[in-house]
Amino acid sequence: MSYDNIFDASYERVLAAGKDGTDFFESFYRHFLRSSELVSERFLDTDMEKQRRMLKKSFYSLIAFYASGAADNVLEKIAYMHSARELDIKPALYDLWLDSLLATVQDYDPEFNDNVELAWRLVMSLGITYMKFKYDHC
Ligand code: HEM
Repeated sequence: MSYDNIFDASYERVLAAGKDGTDFFESFYRHFLRSSELVSERFLDTDMEKQRRMLKKSFYSLIAFYASGAADNVLEKIAYMHSARELDIKPALYDLWLDSLLATVQDYDPEFNDNVELAWRLVMSLGITYMKFKYDHC
């Protein structure tokens, strides 16, 4: 099975697996906010329900990058918004983002293993490299 198929199957499983009424994206933000004060301080005034909805939508653009090899309009806008000119999200923070995501996948995917972890890291890598690059190339 190819890595994008392994990813697709795992993504379906994590979306289907509600744990104690907490969905995948809610749990992701719990992990992410706990990962560093540099992260939690950025979300002090944020409506986290809206934030989760926006992330879920933008996830599609991250995944699409892996398949198409290009950023769509949605990801372009998000990258600009996170860049040094706007939100000023330092590239190193994306490593915490990805590690928090994988910690959440580990919790939510009953079939989690090394292959599943690698599939997620590969699928996310192009979009994240793009976001980091755009930090100071907007
Ligand atoms: C690939 C990774 C990421 C994606 C796809 C993503 C996606 C998003 C989206 C869709 C929004 C909402 C945009 C809107 O309101 O129009 C947002 C807002 C935001 N993101 Fe990210 N993000 C990522 C990584 C990060 C990282 C690493 C940080 C570091 C702390 C971060 C901090 C923020 C902040 C502070 C906001 C604004 C929150 C507010 O409106 O109060 N993001 N992000």
